[in-house]
Amino acid sequence: ALPRKEQFLVGRLYKGFWLPEYFAPGMLAFQRRFTPRPDDVVLTSYPKCGTTWLKALAFAAMARDAYPPAAADHPLRRLNPHACIPFMEDIFIERREAMLDGLPSPRLINTHTPYSLLPEKVTTGGGCKVVYICRDPKDMVVSLYHFIRRLQPDLSFVDTFESVLDGTVPYGPMWDHILGYWHASVMHPDRVLFLKYEDLLQNTGEHVRKLAEFMGRPFSAAEETEGTVASVVELCSFNKMKNFEANKTGTTEGNYNSMAHDAFFRKGVTGDWVNHMSSEMASRLDEIFHDKLRGTVLT
Ligand code: A3P
Repeated sequence: ALPRKEQFLVGRLYKGFWLPEYFAPGMLAFQRRFTPRPDDVVLTSYPKCGTTWLKALAFAAMARDAYPPAAADHPLRRLNPHACIPFMEDIFIERREAMLDGLPSPRLINTHTPYSLLPEKVTTGGGCKVVYICRDPKDMVVSLYHFIRRLQPDLSFVDTFESVLDGTVPYGPMWDHILGYWHASVMHPDRVLFLKYEDLLQNTGEHVRKLAEFMGRPFSAAEETEGTVASVVELCSFNKMKNFEANKTGTTEGNYNSMAHDAFFRKGVTGDWVNHMSSEMASRLDEIFHDKLRGTVLT
């Protein structure tokens, strides 16, 4: 086997997607063996599109009775968001799925699995909900490059960029990943919520309300008066989270996914691609995505 860092951009093509070599067995075990509960919420994304933020927001909103977002001892002040919501690829590859039975309902779980490869019991409903977060692919490329460089310091930006355009990146092609969830959200808006990182940044409160309502935990009038939404937004804001000790130190738990916590908090902005890409590169990428996403309202 290749050393793990060298496997990062190496994958296996399975049913149209490049699965990272080391996650593929976990992802397939998740697909085959996961039994959802009707009130589960599956948080999904293409990597580097805001997964960590979505996990924090969903956790803070869902668990707000047990853990008021303004409380000084809130779990998100003590733990990295990835420690609060299990990542299925890791859980299944490490055969830790028994821990899922011990989680109280409603459970929040996380995966990067493409929609077409999710467990059938998730996609055929049964009440289980799915939330997807998408991002401008140009910013995703930049974020991915900096993230992988933590494992592979000699990686070049151009190689990362070309791999994304080839589709040969973990869980790629990105456009097919997006399309799967987009179409599902159009067909089943009651079951699949499609969010965009840029929209979330622009009006976080509005999207936290949307997310909470979708998860079956709408904010009450009393909570609105008390400013609970604003407390969730504040707790999960980039500057707050980046500076929590738990996010400045330590690594994620999974053996196969161990990564320094601070690698998940880089800049937290939109448009950083201008500092990495020539306008020719940006146009090339935009053209491909424009073509692939034709027929949707995604731009
Ligand atoms: P950048 O590298 O562009 O800064 P993921 O969680 O899917 O790995 O995505 C990581 C990206 O989300 C990184 O983007 C990271 O900085 C950003 N991010 C993490 N936490 C965030 C937060 N609370 N608010 C906004 N962006 C956040």
